[in-house]
Amino acid sequence: MDAMEKFRGDVRRFFESLWPAEEKPLVFGEGDWRSPPVMLVGEAPGEQETLQGRPFVGKAGKNLEGFLQALGLRREEIYISNVVKVRPVKVSARGSVSNRPPNREEILLFTPWLYREILLVKPRRLVTLGNVALKALAGPQAVIGAYHGRETACQVREGGQTAEFPLFPLYHPASIIYNRSLTKVYAEDLGVLAQTMREQP
Ligand code: URA
Repeated sequence: MDAMEKFRGDVRRFFESLWPAEEKPLVFGEGDWRSPPVMLVGEAPGEQETLQGRPFVGKAGKNLEGFLQALGLRREEIYISNVVKVRPVKVSARGSVSNRPPNREEILLFTPWLYREILLVKPRRLVTLGNVALKALAGPQAVIGAYHGRETACQVREGGQTAEFPLFPLYHPASIIYNRSLTKVYAEDLGVLAQTMREQP
């Protein structure tokens, strides 16, 4: 068993003690987990991700293509994960199920596991999408409006291990859909990230 399989087993055991796996299937990270150039950290899986058991597929996968193209990387060359690894849902009065942002409790439950995952993967650079992932890594004071598009550092501490990683925060592509003026900002930020990666691979 390799270190990633062990990690997944530990995550499974922990969350299966909280709720039945069939009720909230876990969606793990995927890709190159041995010091990839980028570890992308999203918010939480959605419907397609849960159906397919893979992060960033469906509509989010389409957005990811633009991201990869800007950086000149293939999907399998990076590691892709989320802060929360189950789909947060809300059920309407009429019984229809839709996505909602992860709540505080979900974020608190999953964040130590994200730290362990990062310390295992040891990416050359972390790229967060949106506020949830940014706050999980840079602290509650960090807001995407102030942090996006420039590299900072973040310290990850878990299980007696500490390490520092370059962190490049981006807006979440889903937020761009709802706010057209962010489309240009996101494209510019991606350009800065591509340039930063050329200078410091
Ligand atoms: N799909 C994911 O896996 N993560 C997100 O943050 C959004 C969509």
